[in-house]
Amino acid sequence: MIVAVIGAGKIGEAVARGVAESDFASGVVVTKRNLSTLKRLKSKKVHITTDNREAARDADIIILSVKAGDAKGVLEEIADYTKGKIVISLMAAVSLRMLEGSLPEAKLVRSMPNIAASIGEAITAYSPGEGVTGKDLKVVKSVLGTFGDYIEVPESLMNAVTALSGSGPAYIAVLIEAMVSAGLKVGIPRDIALKLATKTLTGTADLLSKNHVHPAELRDLVTTPAGTTIAGIYELEKGAVRTSMMNAVEAATQAAEKVAKKFQEPQ
Ligand SMILES: NC(=O)c1ccc[n+]([C@@H]2O[C@H](COP(=O)([O-])OP(=O)(O)OC[C@H]3O[C@@H](n4cnc5c(N)ncnc54)[C@H](OP(=O)(O)O)[C@@H]3O)[C@@H](O)[C@H]2O)c1
Repeated sequence: MIVAVIGAGKIGEAVARGVAESDFASGVVVTKRNLSTLKRLKSKKVHITTDNREAARDADIIILSVKAGDAKGVLEEIADYTKGKIVISLMAAVSLRMLEGSLPEAKLVRSMPNIAASIGEAITAYSPGEGVTGKDLKVVKSVLGTFGDYIEVPESLMNAVTALSGSGPAYIAVLIEAMVSAGLKVGIPRDIALKLATKTLTGTADLLSKNHVHPAELRDLVTTPAGTTIAGIYELEKGAVRTSMMNAVEAATQAAEKVAKKFQEPQ
């Protein structure tokens, strides 16, 4: 299979690397307007070009990773080369209906990965369009699996997904920063605090997902009466950490809805 990645910026480059390093693709065609920043992707399997038409023509599967504002021109350029092909959009704010309007003969999938794709650890939510068969979905999952895990969601959740897991790495980075500051406050050197905070986060996340443990169960397990953990949790709850996270994701969802609405209106 030849996979084209149209618009290899931050997320497109990460995805292209995952696909290129997998056995799934025999070749990857990657496009960008300014190629100078793509040197890191060069390999025997990767062809780099500014020509979106050529990329779409040569590909069996097309991944779209330009910003929503650049979508219209790109969709027009590649439309003639998408008949019967699986096209996976990573673009926030661009609905399946809009994609179908531009690429009526393609098998369309809308998706939302996150930047952890750059180390093969993304979680990608995807919504297949009409006309995507079970066989096509197997192929889509193989593609998404080259840069992390995936989960199917109804398209109506895509703005919320963008806010939760698309933007999520930024929230987690803020939480880790906060833990490092907390470590400094109680006398732990910065580098040690960073290692303790990041490994605590990844270890906890792995424990929850691998053992299928609910977060509340884990919290109870490590919270002993009158112990250190409940003293910390008491302050976290006083600081409204849950409400802050809920407010953050709700605000980001509203921001995503606003952008999506802008692109639904005639340009
Ligand atoms: N960043 C994330 O964490 C993330 C996560 C999930 C989804 N997304 C979605 O992925 C898309 C890209 O986001 P990003 O953060 O990766 O943005 P980005 O770094 O700005 O990447 C977009 C790339 O598209 C290229 N491009 C623009 N017009 C083009 C054209 N006509 N032909 C070929 N390439 C073109 C740009 O290339 P030049 O630099 O050469 O102009 C740029 O490198 C967005 O729709 C976003 O919603 C992003």
